[in-house]
Amino acid sequence: MNVFLETYGCQMNISDSEVIRSVLSNAGYTLVPVIDQAQVVLINTCAIRENAHRKIYGRLDTLRPLRKKMQQEKGHFVVGLLGCMAQNLKETILKHPVVNMVVGPDNYRALPELIAKVSETDTNKNLQVIDADLSEYETYQGIDPNRFDGVNAWVVIMRGCDNFCTFCVVPYTRGRERSRALDDILGEVHALVLQGFQQVTLLGQNVNSYQANGISFADLILEVANVPGIERVRFTSPHPKDFPEPLLEAIAIHPNICKHIHLPLQSGSDRILELMNRTYTKNEFIQLTQKIRQIIPNISITTDIIVGFPTETEADQQETIDLIKTVEFDSAYIFKYSERKGTIASKKYPDDVPPEVKTRRIVALFDLQHEISLNKNQAKIGSTINVMVEGETDKRPGFQMGKSDGNMTVIFPSTPHLPGELIPLEIKNATTATLLGQTLTIPVLTQT
Ligand code: 5AD
Ligand code: SF4
Repeated sequence: MNVFLETYGCQMNISDSEVIRSVLSNAGYTLVPVIDQAQVVLINTCAIRENAHRKIYGRLDTLRPLRKKMQQEKGHFVVGLLGCMAQNLKETILKHPVVNMVVGPDNYRALPELIAKVSETDTNKNLQVIDADLSEYETYQGIDPNRFDGVNAWVVIMRGCDNFCTFCVVPYTRGRERSRALDDILGEVHALVLQGFQQVTLLGQNVNSYQANGISFADLILEVANVPGIERVRFTSPHPKDFPEPLLEAIAIHPNICKHIHLPLQSGSDRILELMNRTYTKNEFIQLTQKIRQIIPNISITTDIIVGFPTETEADQQETIDLIKTVEFDSAYIFKYSERKGTIASKKYPDDVPPEVKTRRIVALFDLQHEISLNKNQAKIGSTINVMVEGETDKRPGFQMGKSDGNMTVIFPSTPHLPGELIPLEIKNATTATLLGQTLTIPVLTQT
């Protein structure tokens, strides 16, 4: 049977889809690039904010005519909703006329069996299946993810989250924290080098809470960076609570560990941070960024911020503004608070910041961060930075793109260099999100 798989959301979902592809192709299914060729459509979904849900509902609606046609022609058609939204909504989403299978993030090993079950049934009976039980152990150990080519391989080192930030649905959709054994991870990274990947990104909902048999995240990242053939190691997404000095020193001393830390702030107000259960204060966050910059000079620090958390006042917003000005993040993802059913915030705090206030606040933070990012990027003009080539860019014909150590996108006039090669580029220009580079010209020495 042919399967079409579509992925929404974060890197963890991208990585899970690689596991799903592997599980299905090992069971004899064929993954097809075009939906019209498929008897099975799988949608790997995100639940982090309401607009992620809305997008999926919109997508499901577009599948109505296809379901009708397939059912008439073939007698059966499977539309499976996978991922965080599946885990979050469970039976409720089965009421959607298009969906007949719901599978949560810890249940992908069962996919072949579940698909067989729904597709063998007489559709007139409209049988539906659901498998959305969270596991304390599932890490998909032993499944070799079916990755796309490229320079970067995602390597999941832990799953789940135990932090219960009050706004966040992830602890409910992804379950408790569990880490993979060091040897299993290293085995995977060695194999990735042989497959031709130059970079690995260690992934986890709380990547720096990694802990397995006495091995910490600092131990693990050094071991991974020492695997011969790995040129760059990145990690995402960490929590500010788990940055002990040995980890910062590991990042500082190892040339292969990229000098970029994504450090989600969420708010600059102590009162809001407390309501969010973030477990740090504004000053502790600022001190951490100072320590990071002292131990790892030239580190790029990026962040996530939420505006309009319940009860947020203009004074709270001002504190966030002040903190952004103090820390000067290299870039920031800024979101409007979106109430998620079942979270602590949804039970305790009414979503009382009006939409127009959220919009005004997000725009103010966007504008401020744009200015900071632009200044920081323009300061790089004239310097030379190492860029890992990723390939041609669609945005500008005749140009290639790559990533700096600090994870900035750099575009440059095309060279013969292949994806995965590290090349020095001189920065000629900069916008808020992109650097323009040029290969170095070797100076001609004239003798007098
Ligand atoms: N509303 C808005 N943003 C959220 N995030 C997580 N949950 C919510 C929510 N309910 C943001 C946080 C997190 C990022 C991945 O998404 O900033 O760091
Ligand atoms: Fe959500 Fe907080 Fe866990 Fe991140 S650390 S996944 S924001 S609960």
